Amino acid sequence: MKKIIAVSLFLTSIAGYAMEDHNSNHKMESSSHHSHMTKFEKNREIKFERELLVPPLLKGKLIDNTRVFDLDIKKGEWEFLKGKKTETYGYNGPILGPVLALEKGEKTRINISNSLSEETTVHWHGAIVSQESDGVHNSDILPNSKKTVEFTLNQPEATLWFHPHPMHKTAQQVYKGLAGLIYLSDEKSNELAIPREYGFNDFPIVIQDKKLSSEGKLEYKTNHIEKIHGKSGGYLMVNGIVSPYMNIPKGLTRLRVINGSNATNYNIDLSNRSFFQIASDGGLLTSPVEMKKLVLAPGERAEIIVDSEILETKDYLYINGVKVLEFRKTNRESLSKLPKNLSILPEVKDDLTKLKTLNFTLKTTSKSNTINGEVFDMEKMNFQVKKGEKQIWNIVNSDGMMDMPHPFHVHGAQFRILERNGQLPPLNEQGWKDTVNLKAGDNVKILVEYKTDGITVYHCHILEHEETGMMGQFQIIDR
Ligand code: C2O
Ligand code: CU
Ligand code: CU
Repeated sequence: MKKIIAVSLFLTSIAGYAMEDHNSNHKMESSSHHSHMTKFEKNREIKFERELLVPPLLKGKLIDNTRVFDLDIKKGEWEFLKGKKTETYGYNGPILGPVLALEKGEKTRINISNSLSEETTVHWHGAIVSQESDGVHNSDILPNSKKTVEFTLNQPEATLWFHPHPMHKTAQQVYKGLAGLIYLSDEKSNELAIPREYGFNDFPIVIQDKKLSSEGKLEYKTNHIEKIHGKSGGYLMVNGIVSPYMNIPKGLTRLRVINGSNATNYNIDLSNRSFFQIASDGGLLTSPVEMKKLVLAPGERAEIIVDSEILETKDYLYINGVKVLEFRKTNRESLSKLPKNLSILPEVKDDLTKLKTLNFTLKTTSKSNTINGEVFDMEKMNFQVKKGEKQIWNIVNSDGMMDMPHPFHVHGAQFRILERNGQLPPLNEQGWKDTVNLKAGDNVKILVEYKTDGITVYHCHILEHEETGMMGQFQIIDR
């Protein structure tokens, strides 16, 4: 009964607001929103004839014990579809960005220059850094100006990423191409026998979906429905290319998968064959977890290991049931087996009953995206915490009518999931996380500890939700 009312409300909102969108596949898209399984039918028309783009891996320059990198944010031209140029944004190039190789405990300096004609910021997603380097508060880099950011990461090895975070422009700037990666390594993980030869058996896999016109042009426009549901649909691309192929060695290949989309959840699989997840957002799991399907929400990362032994000479990675990346087996040899133990995660042994619990209720209606019934207010501090304090955050996705998933992200921290719907989370969610996906009706409890300083934020990583208000801020006080 409730569902029927929901659908008719939804249709009214389409009639009222979506007139500007004369997209022919509108009907298909609105129904796919309901199942949240965007089908990338257009991908089926594109052949696997372009090789996967492997972004440059930068090691920086060591100056006075500081690892120094240059990032230039600029406009470029890129072909998401072969032969069809469109304007894009990128870090140091036309699309996406480099991989910055950082070492735990090493001081890092990044000289950023903004060559765009609009302001931007750089946020280090998953990095435990304080307010002045986080790229949210007072961090606008104006057009044609520069900014230097410094931080030292004291957290375990992980695949982190960076993207813009300027108020009300995050979604469009990410959509236009701005997303780069950080490979953080530490002493322990450097000893592990896991694939780590960049571009040979270790690859970043940034998955995004974007709408392109028939001329292959990218344009960020959102109608009312897209503001409420997030911008999704169209073509699915891996590292900026629709339907690429990649050469993989004999044995194990490590894919560091990032959901860099604005709003789409991806169901990733190898057509029902097994792979292993070895890391979640904030680092290695205790041991490899065998899986047949991985669900990744916007902002989340997972490192997976694929064994060429189980693949055909030509084989595929599937997302939401569609082939999106072709694997071509070669004869060069990689590792053949994984270690049993990957890392030691601190056991959660706090007396949870003694910790303070904060409640966060996420809700999308046909009009707004809110946390605890409120849209984000820059002038309002939602709460304060003490540095070093641990808290339980009880997060609820209370969408009944809209049925939207919400990937909840916390800045400046890596947390542990204590419970998902009253149960221990699945094995692949028991490691460090900075983003946790909640389907409608889900309830997740996380354990958060604050080690940084200043004001920071939490928000839904559906970027249109973040921009329309599903965000809050809090202050960490050192005393
Ligand atoms: Cu990746 Cu505030 O986000
Ligand atoms: Cu972040
Ligand atoms: Cu959301």
